[in-house]
Amino acid sequence: MGFTTIIPAAGQGKRMGTEINKLFLEVDGETIIRRTVSVFQEIEKCEQIFIAAHPNEVHLMEEHLKDFSKVAGVIPGGKERQHSINEVLKVLIDTEVVMVHDGARPFITHEKINQLYQETLKNNAVILAVQAKDTIKRVIDGVVEETYDRATMFQVQTPQSFSRNVILQAYNLAEKDGFIGTDDASLVERAGYKVHITNGDYDNIKITTHEDLIIADSILERRGNCDV
Ligand code: CTP
Ligand code: MG
Repeated sequence: MGFTTIIPAAGQGKRMGTEINKLFLEVDGETIIRRTVSVFQEIEKCEQIFIAAHPNEVHLMEEHLKDFSKVAGVIPGGKERQHSINEVLKVLIDTEVVMVHDGARPFITHEKINQLYQETLKNNAVILAVQAKDTIKRVIDGVVEETYDRATMFQVQTPQSFSRNVILQAYNLAEKDGFIGTDDASLVERAGYKVHITNGDYDNIKITTHEDLIIADSILERRGNCDV
C-alpha cells in the first residue's frame, strides 16, 4: 500500500524569463527539480515517481534525475499542465493513490505529504490549502462585483491527492468535455466528487518569478538548509 507521485515539470517558465526551464535553476547549489524529487524519494509510502518533461527536455531530465531510484519514467508532457499530467495518467500502472505535485514547489515537507496520504485513504480526494491572508474580490472589467467572506477563502497548493479511480475518471471526463482547469481538484469537483482540504504550509510556494528565488533563499536559510 502506498502512492504514486506525478510531478509536472514540462512548463517553460516564461514568467521567470530565463533561457532555461526554471526547474533547472539552482537554489543554494541544488536545482529546483532535484529538491522537489528528493522529498518524495525519501518518503517510504511513495512507491514511484513519474515526471512530465518538455518534449525537448526528456533526455536532459532523465540524466538529471538518474540517481533517484523511485523515478520510474520521464514522460513527454503537453501544451498545458493538465495535458502533461494526462500523458502520465495514460501510462500509470496499478497504484492505490495518486499525488500530483508541481515540480516548482520544492519546499513541500515530509510531514505534509504523509498527512495528505493518510487523509486520502479516508476521503478519496484531498488537497493542501492555506487560509487567504488578503480579502478576495470578484472583479469584471476593473469593477468589483462581489467581496467574499475571507474566512471561507483558501489558497490551494499541491500536492493534490486522489484515489486512482477518482483522478482517472475526472481526467477522462475533462478530456471528453474539452475542459481545462487551473488545478487537478477542479476536474475532480466537476466529476461530482467531494474534495477535502487539509492544512498546507505558507512555505510551500510555487517558484514562479525572480522574487520567488529570493524568498526561496530565505526559506532555506531559516530551515538551516537541512530538514525538509
Ligand atoms: N507544467 C507542465 N506542463 C505544462 C505547463 C506547466 O508540466 N505544459 C508544470 C511546470 O513545469 C510546473 C507546474 O506545471 O512545475 C506549474 O506550472 P507553472 O508554475 O505555471 O510553470 P511554467 O508553466 O513552467 O511557468 P510559466 O507559466 O511562467 O511559463
Ligand atoms: Mg504555467
